[in-house]
Amino acid sequence: MLIHNLSQLLTLAGEPQRGSELGRLKIIPNGAVLVRGETFEVVGTADELLAAYPNEPRFDAGGGAALPGFVDPHTHLIWAGDRAAEFEMRLEGKTYLEILAAGGGILSTVRATRAASLDDLKEQTRTRMQAMFRCGTTTAEAKTGYGLESASELLQMQALLELDGEGPLELAPTYLGAHAIAPEYKDDPDGYTDLLCRQMLPELRSWWDRHAAGRPLPFVDIFCETGAFSLEQSRCVLSAARTLGFPLKIHADEFDNLGGASLAAELGAASADHLVKTSAIDITALAHSNTVAVALPCTPFGLAQAQYTPARQILAADGLLALASDINPGTAWCESMQFVIALACRYLKLTPAQAVAAATLNAAAAIGRSDRIGSIEAGKQADLIVLSVDDYRHLAYRFGGNLVKHVVKKGKVFTNAE
Ligand code: NIG
Ligand code: FE
Repeated sequence: MLIHNLSQLLTLAGEPQRGSELGRLKIIPNGAVLVRGETFEVVGTADELLAAYPNEPRFDAGGGAALPGFVDPHTHLIWAGDRAAEFEMRLEGKTYLEILAAGGGILSTVRATRAASLDDLKEQTRTRMQAMFRCGTTTAEAKTGYGLESASELLQMQALLELDGEGPLELAPTYLGAHAIAPEYKDDPDGYTDLLCRQMLPELRSWWDRHAAGRPLPFVDIFCETGAFSLEQSRCVLSAARTLGFPLKIHADEFDNLGGASLAAELGAASADHLVKTSAIDITALAHSNTVAVALPCTPFGLAQAQYTPARQILAADGLLALASDINPGTAWCESMQFVIALACRYLKLTPAQAVAAATLNAAAAIGRSDRIGSIEAGKQADLIVLSVDDYRHLAYRFGGNLVKHVVKKGKVFTNAE
């Protein structure tokens, strides 16, 4: 299939983009792309490709701009219920960490999620996945983390693997048994840390070998934060995970600076995420590593906080920056990477081009998949989106709607209703 009539084809060709490199979109005006099966085969101008492949079935993209499908590298996609009542409490002055310390917050979603059946969890999550896909996300990382006990965490993992199998949205799973201290260990956080290291992670490894043999191992993540896991506990859990072969991620500096970003760099984590209260020392450590800094602007926005990720400093230090939604029931119920881009341009001071690169190619790097997705290049998986507008900058400029008209996933075209 030859996709043509693309006003701008943002290829993002090349390697993930560090520091001042961020924002190299490699745009082909009046572009076209030849897709064979699930793969991009040739990328060029419409003139070249229409002449070279006269008999190829054609797909007229209607003059919209095209770019790689969004990759959302940080989501808490799977949960049951909602926390609308807590949102109201926060508006009245309670803080997120106060609500968590009182047994609400993450722990309230843990109660709802533990009580849900596999089918119910899948059903509630599928609705969100469909919304993300319509908004142009073609691959999303997805964390467990609302079980905080082995059986429930593994049930969430099973649901994620089954949902990934259903498609079309592709999932990169992450185990977040270390999302909060389990309620059963309320007064013994070291006890829960120990349980994670000695039992839950080894159980995850053997479960994976039995249920998902042959698939790459999932990421293991931890919430390194006041009221969740200390730096020392985070080191314990992530080191144990690394010994078992798991690639790593960390939630760091969302509310307090505990040093989690430097720990991520030291342990060779794929990414360090949130990074709001990140110090200059942490930024330097990240920039000297291959750990991707993932900014989640929906989270401060969702919490109505003034401070966002110091993205410009991360880029000035030559760091690798990506963007994600952090979709979750507490701080940021947002399915749209378009909205993430709109926020990033306003509050992280990224240019539209930088935000697009951070939401595609660099986001793919944050989940270790930039060799396969994140750009439109011969040999890569045929995931792209076509906008209803002819200039990609509308993505950053407008907000609150959906500018995606067609989503191409593994070579198959899905068109949004008008
Ligand atoms: O990334 N910070 C920890 N985890 C989520 C919030 C999860 C929740 O509140 O349910 C986050 O913001
Ligand atoms: Fe998160």
